[in-house]
Amino acid sequence: MSFRTIIEPFKIKEVEPLSVTTEEERVKYLREAHYNPFMLKSEHVLIDFLTDSGTSAMSSKQWAAMMDGDEAYAGSRSWLRMEAVIKDLTGYEYILPTHQGRAAERILYSHLGGKGKVFISNTHFDTTRANIEFSGAEAYDIPVEDAKHPMLDKPFKGNMDTKALEELIKKHGAENIGGVILTVTNNSGGGQPVSMANAIEVKKVCNKYKVNYFLDCCRIAENSYYIKHREAGFENKTYKQIAQEMFALADGGVMSLKKDGLVNMGGFLALKDKKLADECTNLLIITEGFATYGGLSGRSMEAIAVGLQEVFEPAYLEYRIRSTAYLGEKLYKMGVPLIYPIGGHAVYIDAAAFYPHIPVTEYPGQAMVCELYVKGGIRSVEIGSVMFGKYDSNGKLIPAPNELVRLAIPRRVYTQSHIEYVIEVFEKMFEGKDKVRGIKIVEEPEFLRHFTAKFERL
Ligand code: F0G
Repeated sequence: MSFRTIIEPFKIKEVEPLSVTTEEERVKYLREAHYNPFMLKSEHVLIDFLTDSGTSAMSSKQWAAMMDGDEAYAGSRSWLRMEAVIKDLTGYEYILPTHQGRAAERILYSHLGGKGKVFISNTHFDTTRANIEFSGAEAYDIPVEDAKHPMLDKPFKGNMDTKALEELIKKHGAENIGGVILTVTNNSGGGQPVSMANAIEVKKVCNKYKVNYFLDCCRIAENSYYIKHREAGFENKTYKQIAQEMFALADGGVMSLKKDGLVNMGGFLALKDKKLADECTNLLIITEGFATYGGLSGRSMEAIAVGLQEVFEPAYLEYRIRSTAYLGEKLYKMGVPLIYPIGGHAVYIDAAAFYPHIPVTEYPGQAMVCELYVKGGIRSVEIGSVMFGKYDSNGKLIPAPNELVRLAIPRRVYTQSHIEYVIEVFEKMFEGKDKVRGIKIVEEPEFLRHFTAKFERL
């Protein structure tokens, strides 16, 4: 029997109070934060949808395992547990622990990158792109055509355009390709899933030209959910088997465990090739730590070993995907323009369509982020021209393809009534929306400007 109400498949053992603020206070806090939610104090935020990364609630089993953390510098039994779980999941021989995803990215992409090298992805996440570009290499995004139509209801809008992949490899020469990176799910592309069929197509092209094929797999459990429910032939496989099948296609994986690892900190780099793994291990030891902890404490490694198994539990994944979709569907019915279908970890709102009177040069996404905070104490993030915009040689903005606002849902943290509250805040977002003003940048750094840029309201 199936029920309409999605219940959280857990009960609450410990609570963290939320701090309630008034609209008047929030106007002041936002001004003090230079209209950049990354600069808000979290104690001034009511519902924190800034990210699903590192914000998960851990289970009692994870906390229990942490008590047994082995803090030995070398050969820690906690490392052996974490390594065994990752080996079993990925099937890869060489596992390098890192403190988070971008540390693994920096090691792998600085090693394979450098001037003249090219990386190709369905969509590079911002830190992935930054690590590649910082090495002097170039990063190309080639999502499928479907991904460019926000409201188009298609099952696998996270896929990579394999025709464009082949063309890019030919254009730049296979010897100059640092790697092909399939991001599952495609975070910057709306949290949309990638099909197994597409992962196989990408493999065929990579094999043909003998180029490295990596998974950016921080949401691979969520991706597996979609494959099981949307792709023919996977109905009877477990979520873990589906993930294992995808790993088997690639040469390696980079994972931020702060997402589907269900932990607050952690990451890994997993590789099939010994030579590449040895080279990366040297870099790991220089900056992250010895090869059996890589910047993680023994107790963190225990939590990872448990979390990476819990995330594949059917009751958890069902709740996770359905509760995110619930929020998205409600907003959609209310007339909020958004990326459809709803992705696994977040709802992505099309701010340019919500505020058609604000031009992209005045950052409609950032304007919406500010409104959500002032009206409801909700913290969200712009994924548009603030995050991905560039300037041409005359200093004119080259906008991002979309002006999105992401409501990323932390795992196992908020309850259904929190979600109902967010839906109510959106009802209020319609009041006076035509009078909402745009935003200008007054200060910005060279890389990853969205984190520290300062803004003013126009
Ligand atoms: N790859 C993807 C697809 C990501 O979403 C992230 C992080 C990373 C790599 C980097 O991992 O943060 O552990 O260094 N995404 C977070 C987010 C920050 O909010 O989407 P990290």
